[in-house]
Amino acid sequence: MPGVDNPQRAHVNYILNCQGCHGPEGSGSADGDVPRMKDFLGNFLNVEGGREFLIRVPGVASAPLSDTAIAELLNWTLHTQSPDQIPEDFLPYNESDVIQWRRKTLGDVAHERERLIVRMR
Ligand code: HEC
Repeated sequence: MPGVDNPQRAHVNYILNCQGCHGPEGSGSADGDVPRMKDFLGNFLNVEGGREFLIRVPGVASAPLSDTAIAELLNWTLHTQSPDQIPEDFLPYNESDVIQWRRKTLGDVAHERERLIVRMR
């Protein structure tokens, strides 16, 4: 998996920090409070602003993980939950992407998310 040095470590980080909300397969929650990542997440990489959005969402930006671990975890999540949506020219996340974006908090997450989804259509 490109950008994933240690898949076991990434998986454990997912279980400890993400799975409680997103579910083991990234299915999200039935009532839609937590969006589905499975077979969808990679679509964000196809629209302008999407790459940084995935780092800036609160669940990722504020996770108690290092910048390197976040980059690895995002690459792992994309490749395990949404491989078919990843664009061919995707460059795996790296530490400097995370340093650049995680501290730029999103004012209105739902609004930014909606804007990106409109761009996908
Ligand atoms: C407290 C529940 C919760 C936790 C914990 C959480 N998330 Fe999320 N996540 C959400 C919600 C809700 C959204 C939708 C955007 C928003 O409102 O923050 C989201 C959005 C996302 C997105 C953007 C995709 C989209 O469709 O909006 C990614 C990527 C993501 N989360 C990954 C993670 C990862 C990786 C972790 C673990 C480090 C994590 N999340 C932890 C609830 C959570």
